[in-house]
Amino acid sequence: MTGPAGPPGEPGYRLYGDLAPWWPLISPPAQYREEAARLAAVLRSAAGDGPQTVLDLGCGGGHLAAHLKTAMTMTLVDLSPQMLAVSRALNPDCEHHRGDMRTIRLGRRFDAVLVHDAVDYMITEPDLRAVIATAYAHCRPGGLAVFAPDYTAETFRPGAGAGGGSDQAGRQASFRSWSADPDPADPWIQADYEFTLRAADGRTEVVRESHRLAAFPRATWARLLAGAGFTAGQDPPAGEPPAGAGPGQLFLGWRPA
Ligand SMILES: C[S@@+](CC[C@H](N)C(=O)[O-])C[C@H]1O[C@@H](n2cnc3c(N)ncnc32)[C@H](O)[C@@H]1O
Repeated sequence: MTGPAGPPGEPGYRLYGDLAPWWPLISPPAQYREEAARLAAVLRSAAGDGPQTVLDLGCGGGHLAAHLKTAMTMTLVDLSPQMLAVSRALNPDCEHHRGDMRTIRLGRRFDAVLVHDAVDYMITEPDLRAVIATAYAHCRPGGLAVFAPDYTAETFRPGAGAGGGSDQAGRQASFRSWSADPDPADPWIQADYEFTLRAADGRTEVVRESHRLAAFPRATWARLLAGAGFTAGQDPPAGEPPAGAGPGQLFLGWRPA
């Protein structure tokens, strides 16, 4: 299956296409509160008074941004028009752009650039290098880039998950997921999803799809960040998140002043 990290114009995953209106039920904004607080603390501690302007690459439904925007001005980019529509409904006060995080150039710089879990869809080293270059191009001198992959090669463990929710319109969604590393010799991992989607009129659809993600070694991250010109990143002082609270590691890069 072609993933959303394919060339612009290619079809992507249904989760970020026709199923995007279900995103707020599948991955509710409230679940991002704790992680947003942790990332806000990292941004503040690393950038003095904290960044005023933040570019969020791969914003998805804007669930993380919905929390961060209370403290900073968020500019949001995603490849999927359907996910951007979800984010615009939640964050009408934020500027949105459709674009590929590997190639987009907005022609201006930000105090910080954030690439959250969407970076997991960068499944080759050239893709990851391209996103890091995009972050560098949009960081002001002295600015900070924060990358928050769900996995690295060192931390990835096969596992299963589940979740879901409902809304006031009467829709219900639940999902189960399984993640595995079919070939430990390459950075690719596979996430298999099963979504059960019950519309307000009771019609129910079950959708299964597999996503190809990546878990790069920490050494690859360090090499690519340095190669782009970033000053070496380090783990934030905030420490590891609580279990289930999101990414287990961050990669930070400062653009030299
Ligand atoms: C897991 S969702 C992000 C959810 C987001 N953290 C939130 O708060 O709602 C992953 C997103 O990455 C986007 N994506 C994948 N490849 C991309 C690319 N090359 N450029 C921009 N966005 C991309 C998808 O369209 C999808 O919206």
